[in-house]
Amino acid sequence: MGKLTLKQRLVGTLVAAVGCTSLIALILMLVQNDTVELPPSFQYGIVFDAGSTHTALFLYKWLGKKENNTGVVSQVLVCDVEGPGISSYAHDPPAAGQSLTACLDDAKAAIPIGQERDTPVYLGATAGMRLLRLQDANKADQVMEEVAKKIKKYPFDFQGARILLGTEEGAYGWITINYLLERFIKYSFEGMWLKPKEGEILGALDMGGSSTQITFRPRDPLKDPISEVQLRLYGFNYNIYSHSYLCYGKEQAMRKLQIQLLKITNMSQQVYHPCYHHGYNLTLALGDLYNSPCAEKTDAFDPANFVTFLGTSDPGQCLKLVKTIFNFSDCSFPPNCAFNGIYQPPVYGNFFAFSAYFYTFDFLGLAPQAPLPQVLSTIESFCKKDWLMVKTENPNIKDKYLLDYCASANYIMTLLQEAYKFNETTWSNIYFKKKVRAVWK
Ligand SMILES: *[C@@H]1O[C@H](CO)[C@@H](O)[C@H](O)[C@H]1NC(C)=O
Ligand SMILES: *[C@@H]1O[C@H](CO)[C@@H](O)[C@H](O)[C@H]1NC(C)=O
Ligand SMILES: *[C@@H]1O[C@H](CO)[C@@H](O)[C@H](O)[C@H]1NC(C)=O
Ligand SMILES: *[C@@H]1O[C@H](CO)[C@@H](O)[C@H](O)[C@H]1NC(C)=O
Ligand SMILES: *[C@@H]1O[C@H](CO)[C@@H](O)[C@H](O)[C@H]1NC(C)=O
Repeated sequence: MGKLTLKQRLVGTLVAAVGCTSLIALILMLVQNDTVELPPSFQYGIVFDAGSTHTALFLYKWLGKKENNTGVVSQVLVCDVEGPGISSYAHDPPAAGQSLTACLDDAKAAIPIGQERDTPVYLGATAGMRLLRLQDANKADQVMEEVAKKIKKYPFDFQGARILLGTEEGAYGWITINYLLERFIKYSFEGMWLKPKEGEILGALDMGGSSTQITFRPRDPLKDPISEVQLRLYGFNYNIYSHSYLCYGKEQAMRKLQIQLLKITNMSQQVYHPCYHHGYNLTLALGDLYNSPCAEKTDAFDPANFVTFLGTSDPGQCLKLVKTIFNFSDCSFPPNCAFNGIYQPPVYGNFFAFSAYFYTFDFLGLAPQAPLPQVLSTIESFCKKDWLMVKTENPNIKDKYLLDYCASANYIMTLLQEAYKFNETTWSNIYFKKKVRAVWK
């Protein structure tokens, strides 16, 4: 999408909230855009992060005081919306709006009386809605209208409900982790603002259900301006690299594996799945499996037919299968491509990997860090286990999570090593971390 200058592209029109970790970015930019002198009391702002599997509301507050034209913001409330992501309400758009009620009520209760009308509220939807829009633009519009309608019923300053661009999503994730970890500014004991050292800026690896983002500050100027994002924060300019891969979020990647297997076996009714554990089998209607713009088109099939995937606990074949969903040969910027022809400069600096990266590695006991050989052997031995053993060892984890850890671990390793090109040395720069949250003092 080219260069983003805060004023023109991000702020103002923008509505955003990203990957649970990034919402603060939106409010930061809002504060930056605001040229009116703020009174010395707290200001509040609300952001809905409408992800593909789940929506959350974040309430922020900040003092009128600004440093180099960017406010210092704290998170005061997080409310998880009951039910699935808003894109799941395509069949009943008003229910998408209705689902937000409880969290809107919570936010209203947390804001001092009289300040509601000065409280901006945004809703930023991510890849789940980008996919719905590809599939059925009308339905996507209706869902966005219904959520807007619901929010407008509250006495807040409604700023918009929008589907974010992938690059915005990546940039917000990056701003947020660096902001929350005080990588842009630090407030010293003497009450002075300090700029931290260059090397302390973190890269962000985020993986939702429908898309995955990589965002970092490259060492050298970028060769492809399309992936460049320019930001000005706390008086300093940052040029960052960001790319969002639609259809490469965890859920869609798992779907790609199933579809790939069906293709290889010519639409068999029973298909061996090397990433599933022996003794586990999964039956899906073809109509559901192919019901995604991420599904490669195939010859006519009866959507009412079923396919059963039978687990074989075969890590070697699983890794081979995972590699087939990437195209590593297509590249206009050799050797600087990740996959599917997308330019990426060499990774640089330290990275935080959160969302699905964290959940997978945390489950395997590999978070926040483990040596590469240990990671590989842990994944291999987990994938070899049969389903009964996996169930017995993890009695409190739901099947819907357990069944995918082997596949998602292999997917993550392929993405990090083969696509993003983390090697033996740079591997130790990745920290698998739970979403960071600001603490108000
Ligand atoms: C604010 O900007 C000025 C110049 O643009 C710079 O000298 C100062 O260090 C900045 N303050 C912080 C906290 O970054
Ligand atoms: C795939 O299946 C179709 C119908 O089931 C059959 O006509 C076709 O010959 C099969 N192709 C291969 C390569 O097995
Ligand atoms: C699937 O697993 C169930 C038990 O978990 C078993 O009863 C059934 O026969 C299996 N189906 C196939 C096709 O193997
Ligand atoms: C990879 O992409 C290139 C260029 O689009 C294409 O020619 C090639 O067939 C693709 N390879 C695979 C394995 O899909
Ligand atoms: C690992 O990757 C970094 C960054 O891409 C590169 O500078 C370094 O030379 C690589 N190291 C090895 C051992 O390949």
